[in-house]
Amino acid sequence: MKGPKAGSFVIGISGGSGSGKTTLARELVNQLGPRAAILYQDWYYRDQSHRFDRDGGSVNFDHPDALEFELLAQHLAELRSGRSVKTPQYDFVTHQRRAEPLPFTCREVVVVDGILILHAELVRPHLDLAIFVKTPEELRFSRRLERDVAERGRTPEGVKAQFQNQVKPMHDQFVEPSQTHADHVVEGTGSFSSIIQQILRNLP
Ligand SMILES: Nc1ncnc2c1ncn2[C@@H]1O[C@H](COP(=O)(O)OP(=O)(O)OP(=O)(O)O)[C@@H](O)[C@H]1O
Ligand SMILES: [Mg+2]
Repeated sequence: MKGPKAGSFVIGISGGSGSGKTTLARELVNQLGPRAAILYQDWYYRDQSHRFDRDGGSVNFDHPDALEFELLAQHLAELRSGRSVKTPQYDFVTHQRRAEPLPFTCREVVVVDGILILHAELVRPHLDLAIFVKTPEELRFSRRLERDVAERGRTPEGVKAQFQNQVKPMHDQFVEPSQTHADHVVEGTGSFSSIIQQILRNLP
């Protein structure tokens, strides 16, 4: 495997919300240890504090315009050239970026996790390998409902409204069609061990 000075090998993991992206990304990075790290698309949300009203309200977090893909693409280019970056840190409580960016050290492998990274034309050229996790809508919705209520202090009504008004329509319009750009489309309902073994075998 090439060293960090040669630049990061960038693996994109996409799929709908609740598909299992973060689960796969973490399992992969756990296998690789400190040689790898996850970079989250969600860090690159634009400041929404002046517009945010309520969950499922006027801010559509599932639309590509909500994200600064220019900056994400620039950072991936830096990492692939062997340089570390400072990533923004979007805070979902204040809907602003935190004052201090996060130092993100260049690693042999960088795993990018995000619903829209395969949709974004600026980002795609910086992915050395692209995976799309495909999971039925009912299961993605039930996973998201459980997580957002348990871990993000949200109400079931807010989660349902956001899913119907934004998550589902944006998924159907932007996320689902972007799977055509993936090297591998994997099921998000079972074990990820075979795709992980395949990825590990094919690393440079
Ligand atoms: N292959 C799987 N089998 C069973 N449960 C899974 C699987 N993948 C993920 N899950 C469970 O589903 C939930 C959502 O998974 P995860 O957080 O990875 O989704 P995500 O694609 O990252 O969603 P989001 O885009 O909303 O962050 C978690 O509770 C996770 O444990
Ligand atoms: Mg996730």
